[in-house]
Amino acid sequence: MIYLKTAEEIELMRGACDLVSRTLGEVAKWIRPGITTLQLDTIAREFILDNGGKPSCLGYHGFPGTLCIEVNETVVHGFPSQQTLREGDIIGTDCVVELNGYCGDSCYTFAVGEIDPKVQALLDTTYKSLYKGIEAARAGKRIGDIANAVQTYCEARGYSVVREMCGHGIGRSMHEAPEVPNFGRRGTGPLLKPGMCIAIEPMINLGSKNIVIERDGWTCRTRDRKPSAHYEHTIAVTAGEPEILTTFRYVNEALESKQSS
Ligand code: MF3
Ligand code: CO
Repeated sequence: MIYLKTAEEIELMRGACDLVSRTLGEVAKWIRPGITTLQLDTIAREFILDNGGKPSCLGYHGFPGTLCIEVNETVVHGFPSQQTLREGDIIGTDCVVELNGYCGDSCYTFAVGEIDPKVQALLDTTYKSLYKGIEAARAGKRIGDIANAVQTYCEARGYSVVREMCGHGIGRSMHEAPEVPNFGRRGTGPLLKPGMCIAIEPMINLGSKNIVIERDGWTCRTRDRKPSAHYEHTIAVTAGEPEILTTFRYVNEALESKQSS
């Protein structure tokens, strides 16, 4: 069942999405060699609680963090830990916040200091593919149009698309129908209608598309241990342009002020 949101509900979605966006902005300020992923998780949790929100991932089916931590070959759902970030790493921080009964979901993959240009190119392509997907999220089109836009953009540049993990509808729950895959055929899948809120989240690998789940039951990494990138926005389908409910503005502001200091 796909729930279409009213204008009032979308206004509440905007609130949750703004808070998760500001949370990633706080995290961005602290990304540097030497910090542990557990410290980043604490920063995110305290920020959300201080702002009246709820960290949705924490305790979700037993997940132990506010952030899903994705260092290098980790695709999604890594645990915060004592692992220290090092120059040359990449780290995705995926976060879901609930505020006033609605959820916002966003992920950003950061470079830690100087990184290999080949890995930077993976980040750039994955980032752009997210906006290609969003561009296709228009009333009258279908989920497969979003999926195909992401897939063709990434595969044309030599990267591979993770198959097992998808974007999703979002609203009162962080995961609602429909699934939003990052691969598929144009003109297939559920029809997009105004009021649909979905999280689009390309998970793109430098090497092969294959993944494994670690023995902890959560941590998903690439089988070949090559890096994987992940960006995510929560969006609303409208009668016109798609509305991006989350924003990377706070992340970008934090990264810019780090560079100039
Ligand atoms: N953005 C992630 C997703 O859509 C959030 C997962 S929260 C977790 O799957 F608790 F399942 F890790
Ligand atoms: Co998500």
